Amino acid sequence: MSDILVHTEAGVMTITFNRLDKKNSITSAMYGELADALGKAEQDSAVRAVLIQGDATIFSAGNDIGDFLNAPPSTQESPVFRFLRGIATFPKPIVAAVCGPAVGIGTTMLFHCDLVYAGDNAAFSMPFVNLGLCPEAASSLLVPQMFGYHRAAEALLLGEPFMAEAALEVGLVNRVVPPTEANAIAQAQARKLAAKPLSALIETKRLMKKSQQAVVLERMGEEGQSFGRMLREPAAREAFTAFMEKRRPDFSKV
Ligand code: COA
Repeated sequence: MSDILVHTEAGVMTITFNRLDKKNSITSAMYGELADALGKAEQDSAVRAVLIQGDATIFSAGNDIGDFLNAPPSTQESPVFRFLRGIATFPKPIVAAVCGPAVGIGTTMLFHCDLVYAGDNAAFSMPFVNLGLCPEAASSLLVPQMFGYHRAAEALLLGEPFMAEAALEVGLVNRVVPPTEANAIAQAQARKLAAKPLSALIETKRLMKKSQQAVVLERMGEEGQSFGRMLREPAAREAFTAFMEKRRPDFSKV
């Protein structure tokens, strides 16, 4: 079965991470499928809302670290950047259901979703610095805006995880729910959106995002340049190798 499942029903395209043995970490091929699904959802008038979900135990462990090590994205046209631009500019509503760990892009993609429902086991983290990297998905802009600078620094400089209740408090999630109910609750909310007039949804979302859209894309591009360079530098190589070798990284020489 595919690592990304896509199913459309009642006006909702549901995109499910389905790589549980690797904690739903996202490979380059999966980013390609995600970007393609969003492209199709944008064009298809039968799709009026999108739901992104994992399962009750894991949302996503972020980028596949083997891919980071062996086939890092080389241009801004790489599937990961195509996905990020796609989700940041997607015109119809996006709902997310997040349970368990949401690491790296597993958290940063949520800044581009419209409604987020979290299981009470959700654990969000953006450990870019711990991996020798910098933020992506315009999170260097959007996290300080949403959290306030000092809480953003805790999340982005220390890379400390934060749980569902803290995410609710800063406004990253709409509601904390039992993990076994998160996907169904998010699906119900997506169907509520899908029953509304699509043109009104699209115009309202466009107006809400208008003042930031260009700035977000510009920041994403700048982060992407730095991220792409840093992926190849010694600190990140050591972090990825340590993860693959199941040991602590040693940054003393980098
Ligand atoms: N890339 C590739 N493989 C990953 C992965 C990732 N991001 N995250 C987990 N996996 C793999 C593990 O290597 C392991 O594979 P194995 O069974 O072949 O050894 C399997 O998924 C299970 O992971 P494990 O770490 O044993 O699960 P856990 O429940 O103890 O911890 C996480 C779950 C998500 C907390 C932990 O896997 C983790 O921290 N992953 C890395 C997250 C990360 O740094 N992502 C990059 C962000 S930019």
